Amino acid sequence: MLSLRAVAAPARRQFVAAAPRAVFSVTFQNQRFYSSKVAKFTGTKDASGNFPVSIIEGDGIGPEISQAVKDIFAAAKTPISWEPVDVTPRLVDGKTTIPPETIESIQRNKVALKGPLATPIGKGHVSLNLTLRRTFNLFANLRPCRSIAGYKTPYDNVDTVLIRENTEGEYSGIEHVVVDGVVQSIKLITREASERVLRFAFQQAQEIGRKKVRVVHKATIMKMSDGLFLNVAKDIAKEYPDIEFDAELLDNTCLKMTTDPTPYNDKVLVMPNLYGDILSDMCAGLIGGLGLTPSGNIGDECSIFEAVHGSAPDIAGQGLANPTALLLSSLMMLRHMELNEFADRIEKATFATLAEGKSLTGDLGGKAKTHEYAAAIISKL
Ligand SMILES: NC(=O)c1ccc[n+]([C@@H]2O[C@H](COP(=O)([O-])OP(=O)(O)OC[C@H]3O[C@@H](n4cnc5c(N)ncnc54)[C@H](O)[C@@H]3O)[C@@H](O)[C@H]2O)c1
Repeated sequence: MLSLRAVAAPARRQFVAAAPRAVFSVTFQNQRFYSSKVAKFTGTKDASGNFPVSIIEGDGIGPEISQAVKDIFAAAKTPISWEPVDVTPRLVDGKTTIPPETIESIQRNKVALKGPLATPIGKGHVSLNLTLRRTFNLFANLRPCRSIAGYKTPYDNVDTVLIRENTEGEYSGIEHVVVDGVVQSIKLITREASERVLRFAFQQAQEIGRKKVRVVHKATIMKMSDGLFLNVAKDIAKEYPDIEFDAELLDNTCLKMTTDPTPYNDKVLVMPNLYGDILSDMCAGLIGGLGLTPSGNIGDECSIFEAVHGSAPDIAGQGLANPTALLLSSLMMLRHMELNEFADRIEKATFATLAEGKSLTGDLGGKAKTHEYAAAIISKL
């Protein structure tokens, strides 16, 4: 029986959802989680024959988990050359911006891998993650969550695929004080952004062989905004007669998913921004937490793949961090770049290491340091 490391204070994001037991119940198939028809990767190799990839190592544990990914990629002889970029925010005319050389690097390489970024509190900055999404118009957030063999949670055989609209909705950042004590926050939904993310959802379903797309919404209450998203979905669905389309109220989805998530294994779920933010973390909870879930922010020009957990300042610099989320995100990135055979090999070694349970980091109940876990994966490549 593996034991769970003492977890965070209640105010923090919960990293691990449930006490794990070593049970080997789920078989993984290698599968591409990315549609090539929308936002196809257009990067090119450099003079050395490698694809340059911008890397934002991030704050806190970011450099440690990035190093683990770099070591594993080097051992697998992945044809990638890393281009480290800095995203230390700058306030220009009251707006949070990222350095122009970083923007240039990501635009040139078309792809980036990103570690966690700490949001500076109370300095007038917009979240850097939000800034990146806006700067590169990363319109869809793709979050697959699949049960991990060897990491037992209350739910077996979870295999959800969730797509979140990433640019507007409740996170449009349009807020103002009406009068003292009364504030308004605008939920912006546009046909254009809705069409884009919904089309991506249908194409993603085709790509990964799912026959159903389900919109999650609250159009019963937000009749105009969610109503528009839902109506656009109905229109887009007509373009994909091979895919079954339906819709479900968010509260109902939460209830059903936490009762039994397996009926969602044949669907791609797509939804407005806030619902996707919350529901994607809930799905992560079903398989063991944010440390085990990959994520891709998809845009037409560039895409950024990232670990969705935070910078874990409480364990930073101690070699305790679990790099799995960043590693799985980097594998999603490799598949996006059509380097599938490298992704498959590293994925197999990673899942074998997790299933074996001998070299796990503290959050998964083990005693291994970050580099020891990475070395165990490398030994299985
Ligand atoms: N995507 C992102 O860049 C992102 C996401 C969430 C939070 N943040 C930022 O991160 C900072 C810290 O936030 P927080 O403490 O609320 O959340 P957190 O995810 O950093 O930490 C929550 C708990 O999970 C643990 N944890 C997180 N990642 C881990 C890993 N890879 N291995 C082992 N344990 C891990 C931490 O030690 C902590 O106990 C804040 O500045 C926040 O704004 C960034």
